[in-house]
Amino acid sequence: MVSKQAFGKTQDGTAVDIFTLTNSNGLEVRAITYGGIIVSLRTPDRNGKLEDIVLGFDKLDGYLGKHPYFGAIIGRYGNRIGNAKFALDGVEYKLAANNGPNALHGGLKGFDKAVWKAQSFENDKGVGVVFTHTSPDGEEGYPGNLSAKVTYTLTNQNELIFDYEATTDKPSPINLTQHTYFNLAGAGKGDVLGHEVMLNADSFTPVDKNLIPTGEIRKVAGTPLDFTKPTAIGARINQDDEQLKLAGGYDHNFVINRKGEGLALAARVYEPTSGRVLEVSTTQPGVQFYTGNFLDGTLTGKGGRAIQKRSGFCLETQHFPDSPNKPEFPSTILRPGETFRSETVLKFSVQEP
Ligand code: BGC
Repeated sequence: MVSKQAFGKTQDGTAVDIFTLTNSNGLEVRAITYGGIIVSLRTPDRNGKLEDIVLGFDKLDGYLGKHPYFGAIIGRYGNRIGNAKFALDGVEYKLAANNGPNALHGGLKGFDKAVWKAQSFENDKGVGVVFTHTSPDGEEGYPGNLSAKVTYTLTNQNELIFDYEATTDKPSPINLTQHTYFNLAGAGKGDVLGHEVMLNADSFTPVDKNLIPTGEIRKVAGTPLDFTKPTAIGARINQDDEQLKLAGGYDHNFVINRKGEGLALAARVYEPTSGRVLEVSTTQPGVQFYTGNFLDGTLTGKGGRAIQKRSGFCLETQHFPDSPNKPEFPSTILRPGETFRSETVLKFSVQEP
């Protein structure tokens, strides 16, 4: 089932709608046209009790204010571009520095702050909503009129599928992702340190003091970033490790192990008290595993509760950060006549203790 309601207005008076997607097992996803933000996601625990497992706010106001991209579609370029500039075909492009010297998550007004056009659908696969948005040539410093289409599909197999597509009329970098913060015990139910995480990644891209990849692809083996076997987030997060210290915890791009193209498992997360399991598969080469290190209790979230440090984690499927400045990384350049496509599948289930 899919339904649409009004959710308020932006500061300039643009109406924002909310779509509610429900599958045959009662899973429910609510997403708004502002930023394509997933404002709630209710999934059953091992006793069948539905609970909202994503961080955010009760009302539109919270999302219109300053916040770290809760639930949003990120574009044009997810994650950081070092020194907020890049060169493409011999031309240098300057972006707004909105994260120290870097450009982060699309700039001052990225795709997370756009009001998207939206159309709901029901088909054999499930129910969903298609969000579309065109970013004009030069917006946030990026070249080309870039049209993006992001489809959320909720299936009766308890999957939430994100399909991304984009075209451009000038060569331009693109790195679309989804920035939902999960707490599988339930939003507002403490920190995520007890969640057991498996990342299907033998390597990661180490960062410098500005959280920009150095260009190295480093093995995780023997480091606290080795999640090839399920490990609690909190087991090693405070270790005396250079990479953990630079990021204040986990905030790294992992290189997904894959055999060829297509969907590959990126991560599996299990929360022992609720039994909830989240599996993430993607066609993308990387996943940013971020443990909410910069959350600090200053924002008031759902139910009037402060959003505390490490009370949520993100698994942002993506191309590697700073790729426009790293020719050795897989290319993020989209050219006229090409269509960018990627897919990420979130699968929800439960596990007995
Ligand atoms: C980044 C973090 C950042 C967060 C919110 C994540 O994708 O990796 O460093 O703090 O987004 O902006």
